[in-house]
Amino acid sequence: MRAMNIGIFDSGIGGMTLLHQAMVLMPRENFIFYADTDHVPYGTKTREQVITYVDEVIRFMADHDCKAIVIACNTATAVAAELMRSKYQPIPIIGIEPAVKPAVAESEGKRVLVVATPLTVHENKLQKLVERVDDEHLVDLMELPGLVEFAERGEFVSDSVTAYLREKFLGYTLERYGELVLGCTHFNYFKDSFRALIPPQIHIIDGSLGTVRQLMRVLDARHELLEPIADRSVSWEQYKNDICVRYFESGREITDSAKLETIRQLHERLEKMRKI
Ligand code: DGL
Repeated sequence: MRAMNIGIFDSGIGGMTLLHQAMVLMPRENFIFYADTDHVPYGTKTREQVITYVDEVIRFMADHDCKAIVIACNTATAVAAELMRSKYQPIPIIGIEPAVKPAVAESEGKRVLVVATPLTVHENKLQKLVERVDDEHLVDLMELPGLVEFAERGEFVSDSVTAYLREKFLGYTLERYGELVLGCTHFNYFKDSFRALIPPQIHIIDGSLGTVRQLMRVLDARHELLEPIADRSVSWEQYKNDICVRYFESGREITDSAKLETIRQLHERLEKMRKI
């Protein structure tokens, strides 16, 4: 029998950015979303620790009838994607990466600021990606671990968030920048706060749409893509209550109605952020 589900995971709620985008583009699919809340944050752990956590999650997904698995975490992709692909083949494993390439292509000679977790910033994978695409040395990398903590507390717009970001941007001449790359899926929850602090010419970009498109291409090539909605006028509002998603926290299914309501609210926030 054919596998049914698309598994999407992250250390925490950040991966819902990608889940949300996938639900918008493929509302007929069945999703499993796994937040590894016992181990969040990943971005300040060692690579060995993160590899152990990711292995556990992918094993769970493989045991839960997944036809494809998406690592909706830039940090986990950077340290573990290749290893997991060879370990779990033939299940396709798609990982999100900071959207450095499109950002450099679109920056028109202006500088590009990539914000991510400390582990992603220091991983070889990102350094190599930058070396490959940044011929004109336009890219700067910045760690923002505090935003993962704020996000997991559900604190998205506050004086503390603004003060944290303002402090991080001190010393950067933001007028020289054309692109801000959100290189951590948790950061999408803060798009309005970023927008309020950075000059209007800076375009905000992240890898979630590109990753979902890649997932769709992979499923299509395997004849495993359920009919996507081609008509982009179909809205989230119309479909949101009918899409089939099961949510897990480090392997425990979420059935508590208060937690499911929080998840619903996170989707509403992500829908707003998607339009910024
Ligand atoms: N959301 C994750 C990412 O995209 C990781 C955040 C964390 O656990 O540190 O990198």
